[in-house]
Amino acid sequence: VTIYVPRDSTALALGANEVAAAIAAEADRRGQSIRLVRNGSRGMFWLEPLVEVVTAAGRVAYGPVAPEDVAGLFDAGLLAGGNHALHLGLTEDIPFLKNQERLTFARVGIIDPLSLDDYLAHEGYVGLKNALTKTPEAIVEEMIASGLRGRGGAAFPTGIKWQTVLRAPAAQKYVVCNADEGDSGTFSDRMIMEDDPFTLIEGMTIAALAVGATEGYVYVRSEYPHSIATMNEAIAIATARGYLGENILGSGKSFRLEVRKGAGAYICGEETAMLESLEGKRGVVRAKPPLPAIEGLFGKPTVINNLISLASVPVILARGADFYKNFGVGRSHGTLPFQLAGNIRQGGLVEKAFGLTLRQLLDDFGGGSASGRTIRAVQMGGPLGAYLPQSQFDTPLDYEAFAAIGAMIGHGGLVAFDDTVDMARQARYAMQFCAVESCGKCTPCRIGSTRGVEVIDKIIANDERPQQIHLLKSLCDTMVNGSLCAMGGMTPFPVLSALNHFPEDFGAPSEQAA
Ligand code: NAI
Ligand code: SF4
Repeated sequence: VTIYVPRDSTALALGANEVAAAIAAEADRRGQSIRLVRNGSRGMFWLEPLVEVVTAAGRVAYGPVAPEDVAGLFDAGLLAGGNHALHLGLTEDIPFLKNQERLTFARVGIIDPLSLDDYLAHEGYVGLKNALTKTPEAIVEEMIASGLRGRGGAAFPTGIKWQTVLRAPAAQKYVVCNADEGDSGTFSDRMIMEDDPFTLIEGMTIAALAVGATEGYVYVRSEYPHSIATMNEAIAIATARGYLGENILGSGKSFRLEVRKGAGAYICGEETAMLESLEGKRGVVRAKPPLPAIEGLFGKPTVINNLISLASVPVILARGADFYKNFGVGRSHGTLPFQLAGNIRQGGLVEKAFGLTLRQLLDDFGGGSASGRTIRAVQMGGPLGAYLPQSQFDTPLDYEAFAAIGAMIGHGGLVAFDDTVDMARQARYAMQFCAVESCGKCTPCRIGSTRGVEVIDKIIANDERPQQIHLLKSLCDTMVNGSLCAMGGMTPFPVLSALNHFPEDFGAPSEQAA
C-alpha cells in the first residue's frame, strides 16, 4: 500500500515529518508493509499534514493528521481507505481541488518531487522534447502565441521578452529565474521548487534553447532552505540523466544551471537589483534602459522571468499555444496560481483561469475569514498592491480589469483582513515597509517613505489632519512620478487605497479624503 505524506515546508511546519515517522512505526508494529512517499503539498494548507492512501478507487485523503491520530487511523483501516473522523474522501473530489484548473501545478502534490521517473510518467519533459524539434524562432513564436504574460506581477508578454534576447547578438547569454518571491501572502514559487522542481528546470531549459543561452541561475531567497536543497538535488538528478548540462538528450545543446541564494532583501526581487546581487554586489537598482534583455547579467543579454512564468512554459510546449491561450479572459490568457493568505478559513493554492472574481476566490475557495467575521479588505499583489474594499470584490481577476480600478493582480497573492483591521495602521505599514526595504538610490523613495510614516502618524494623532492628508497625497504623487523603480513608485497604491476606500479609519469624513 502506498501512503503519501507531504515534504513541502508548510506540511513540515505543521508536523509532517512526525506524522510520517508515526505512520512508518505503526505499520512496522502491526507488521503491515507500506511504501511511504514524500510528495509535495496539494495546496490545501488548512488540511496539512494531509495523508493520502492509494486505493483501487483513487487516492483517499485524511487531514489534518497529528502523530497521535495515527494508531486510530490504522484501527479504522487506513490502508484500505477506511472511514475515520479525519477521512476526507477521494482527494480529487475535495471541492477546493476539484474546481481548479491546474496546468502549471498539474503535478504538484501528486508526484514525488525528486523522482524523475514519476515526473516523466506525468507528462514531464514532453515540452522539452517538442522544443528540441523546433528552431529558436519557432519556440519564441509559440510562446508569443500562448499569450503568457510575466507572472511576477508586471504582466509583460514572456514571448516578446524572449524575442528581444534571441535577437540580441552575443556570444554568451543567460537565463535567470527570479525566485525571490518577496510579496506578502505568496508561496507559489516555493511550492514549485519544493513540490515539482523539474517543471522549473524544464521551463528554464526551453527558455535557454529559445534564446541561445548556455548558463542559467535560479535566484532563491534565503528564507527558503527547503527550496534551495530540493532544487540542488533536482538539478543534480536532471544533469545525471542527461536532461541538463552538456549535450542535452543528445541534441548537442548545453545548458548549465545553478542555484544562488539571496540574503533577504525585498529589493533583490527587482530584476536589476537581483542582477547586482547575482554579480556579488550590493542589491541596488540599476537604471533602465538598457533592459536586462539587452544588457543583463555580466552585461550580457539575459532572460529574467519570474518562476511561475518559467514553470508555465513546459505545458505550453507540450500541449501547444492554443491550448494554453484558450484559458482566461480578454488579454489575460492562461491560468494563474492564486495564493490565499491572511485571515482566511481555507488558505492555500488555487490555480484557475483568469476571469473568476475576487469574491469567488474568497468565498468559494477561501470559505470566508478564519475568524468568522466579515472580510473587510483584501490586499492583492503584495505590499505594493492596493487594498480593495468589499465594493470591489466582484472585480474579475484580469490584468486590465484590476488596472482599471487602480489595483493589481501582481504575483497572485491575496491577504484577507476582517472588520477588526485598522486601515490607517495598514497605510502606515506600507510606508514603513518602503522605508525599511528601500535600496536608497533615489530620494522620493528613500526620504519620502520616512516622511510618509511621520505624516500618517500625525493623521492618526489628529494633528492638523486636513493639511496632513493633503501633504500625504502630494508626497504620494512625488513618489509615483519620481521613483526609479516599483518600490517607491507603487508604495502609494496601498497607502492611497486605504485612505480613499476607508476614510473613516483616518478619522476623516469621506469627503475629506475624497
Ligand atoms: P516593468 O514593467 O518595468 O518590466 C516588466 C518586465 O518586462 C521586465 O523584465 C523588463 O525588463 C521587461 N521588458 C520591458 N520592455 C521590454 C522589451 N521591449 N523587451 C524585453 N523585455 C522588456 O516592471 P518591473 O519593474 O520589472 O516589475 C514591477 C512589478 O513587479 C510590479 O508590477 C509588481 O507587481 C511586481 N512585484 C513582484 C514582486 C514579487 O514578489 N513577485 C515583488 C514586488 C513587485
Ligand atoms: Fe531604490 Fe526605492 Fe529608488 Fe527603487 S524607488 S531605486 S528601491 S530608492
